[in-house]
Amino acid sequence: MKKALISTLLLSLSGLATASTAFTDAAEAVKYRQASFQLIRHNMLDIRDMVQGNIEWDDARIKRRADALALVSTLPWEAFKVAGTEQGGGDAKAAVWQNMADFTELGEKLAADAAALKVAADSGEQAAIRRAFGNYARNCKACHDNYKN
Ligand code: HEC
Repeated sequence: MKKALISTLLLSLSGLATASTAFTDAAEAVKYRQASFQLIRHNMLDIRDMVQGNIEWDDARIKRRADALALVSTLPWEAFKVAGTEQGGGDAKAAVWQNMADFTELGEKLAADAAALKVAADSGEQAAIRRAFGNYARNCKACHDNYKN
């Protein structure tokens, strides 16, 4: 009994006990991908506001948002592959797991278009930024129509 207690203690001290993270726990995975999508949304909408002229164009600000999008657009997809996460809890349709290859491809396209947007933002050329932003923004609806409630 005492021995078992000590080994449990040692195990937790050595950090071997599994923490509940998005990469081991289905409910946490849903939270992680939803949080990633919120970051995608906020960074994208700030660029959209500049592209549409609602707020003043600011090269440095666009570059910051594009840098963020290049990273955060790669994040949600892993969290759709955590064991048990297809059981629901979020707004993803069952179609995601029935067509994982197609879904993954659409996710990779979003990330590739974000990388292209970053290249355009680094160049500082407005026309290139507008074009790259349009390409990036088209991905949202293309995926949501089939895969999001
Ligand atoms: C490859 C598919 C795909 C692409 C591309 C995609 N989304 Fe989504 N999005 C989803 C799915 C699936 C969900 C539902 C996730 C869940 O609840 O588990 C979602 C959820 C969201 C949510 C809700 C998050 C929450 O808090 O519940 C927002 C906001 C969002 N997406 C914004 C965007 C924006 C903006 C883009 C484009 C820049 C985008 N998404 C591109 C599939 C996609």
